[in-house]
Amino acid sequence: MQCPSIGEVNAMCLATCTRDGKPSARMVLLKGFSQSGFRFFTNLESRKGKELDSNPFASVVFYWEPLNRQVRIEGSVEKLPEEESEQYFRSRPKSSQIGAVVSHQSTVIPDREYLRKKNSELEEQYRGVAVPKPPYWGGYILKPDVVEFWQGQTNRLHDRIIFRRLRAGSASTGPMSHKGEGDWVYERLSP
Ligand SMILES: Cc1cc2nc3c(=O)[nH]c(=O)nc-3n(C[C@H](O)[C@H](O)[C@H](O)COP(=O)(O)O)c2cc1C
Repeated sequence: MQCPSIGEVNAMCLATCTRDGKPSARMVLLKGFSQSGFRFFTNLESRKGKELDSNPFASVVFYWEPLNRQVRIEGSVEKLPEEESEQYFRSRPKSSQIGAVVSHQSTVIPDREYLRKKNSELEEQYRGVAVPKPPYWGGYILKPDVVEFWQGQTNRLHDRIIFRRLRAGSASTGPMSHKGEGDWVYERLSP
């Protein structure tokens, strides 16, 4: 965030998957993170929303070119509580709130004019009154099981450090594993 040449530091590529294993990826903005996971907001009925409904696992990747750095995160995804989505929706500019109502994201529409018209109708409807959060808009939290930090080096001997959460059923540790905090272990991977 302190690197001025990174335009949108919180932009990340989010990959989801259908139940039968067909992946899709798109950019979204990271809007919060904590010990419990990484939060983003979207239309719950969009393509990603439907994929997450039927297969609640995802992967995100950040790439910060000026720092020659990549971060990959994998884990399970849950919907955020309605109250948290409401709170974030209320914090957004009115134009974005109306945008969320206008756009039934990922559905086919006739033309651009259709959106423009719907947008101005809603601007009129909500003049001077708060825009209610549509039920189909909200947040998700990605709870990480794997986080990998990649740091490019000029000599191509790039650093890759992978952190894995040890859970029942996940790969066990070996002599080159190191103990991290809590149930995390970390290892160096060959680049
Ligand atoms: C830099 C960038 C940030 C974006 N941030 C979001 C976001 O936070 N939420 C969102 O729903 N779409 C965001 N989009 C649009 C998505 O990439 C995508 O077009 C949209 O969510 C529909 O995806 P889907 O049909 O796969 O569900 C962003 C696009 C770009 C290029």
